[in-house]
Amino acid sequence: MDTQKNALIVGASRGLGLGLAETFLRRGWRVTATQRGASPGLAALEAEGVRVETVDIDDDAAVETLHGRLGAERFDLIFVVAGVATQAHDPAHAVPRDVAAQVYLTNAIGPIRFAETFRDRLATGGSLALMSSVLGSVALNESGGWEIYRASKAALNTLARSLAVRHQGDGLGVLLVHPGWVRTDMGGAEADLDVATSVAGMADAVEARLGQPGCQYFDYRGETLAW
Ligand SMILES: NC(=O)c1ccc[n+]([C@@H]2O[C@H](COP(=O)([O-])OP(=O)(O)OC[C@H]3O[C@@H](n4cnc5c(N)ncnc54)[C@H](OP(=O)(O)O)[C@@H]3O)[C@@H](O)[C@H]2O)c1
Repeated sequence: MDTQKNALIVGASRGLGLGLAETFLRRGWRVTATQRGASPGLAALEAEGVRVETVDIDDDAAVETLHGRLGAERFDLIFVVAGVATQAHDPAHAVPRDVAAQVYLTNAIGPIRFAETFRDRLATGGSLALMSSVLGSVALNESGGWEIYRASKAALNTLARSLAVRHQGDGLGVLLVHPGWVRTDMGGAEADLDVATSVAGMADAVEARLGQPGCQYFDYRGETLAW
């Protein structure tokens, strides 16, 4: 019997997605990782056995094509990491409508549509993970800032809870993960954590929850976050 766990990491060209692909590979998982365009980081992992696919989560036809291309394969973990933070430092009213809408589409609608399409490819005992942020917590928003991004991750959290409720009869497990503030292109050089620390913590926390039903919101240390 094949006991090797199987992960699909979506949005893995760089940053946290790339780090998660490498971490699960090193932990002995079979890994499929996606990019939008050529990624030197993923090309290096491909040489070590990671299967690299191409998909833009804003493109429904591309998501459907990937779904078909991966065939009947089952994944113990499907982790949608992709996200954007366009004009994150501008207050909501100063962000052009089309820019604000695109942040919402990529950070909230794209991951949920991807999750719904790929739900049938989860293995028994598997989980669906979505990259959220502590900034998506309404309760913990005492500092303001990152207004449109924050709202997009709050929307993702709400949509994820609805997704989990819609499929609770099937025991679907949805994990909303905050990686910490991490030194990536998005997080910037001043962030608290390096990628290795964040992804190791997230992998531990996700592995500990694999197959648990319902919707959980927690950080890279495995600590539950307030909604
Ligand atoms: N860094 C932090 O401190 C932090 C904190 C909280 C939450 N997060 C979340 O963690 C996730 C990863 O962030 P990061 O820091 O690694 O950011 P990053 O370095 O900017 O990487 C973003 C990744 O998302 C991909 N992506 C963006 N839009 C996409 C789309 N439409 N379809 C497919 N892939 C897409 C990018 O691909 P391309 O290379 O093609 O652009 C890239 O691989 C995001 O969801 C972010 O909101 C990050």
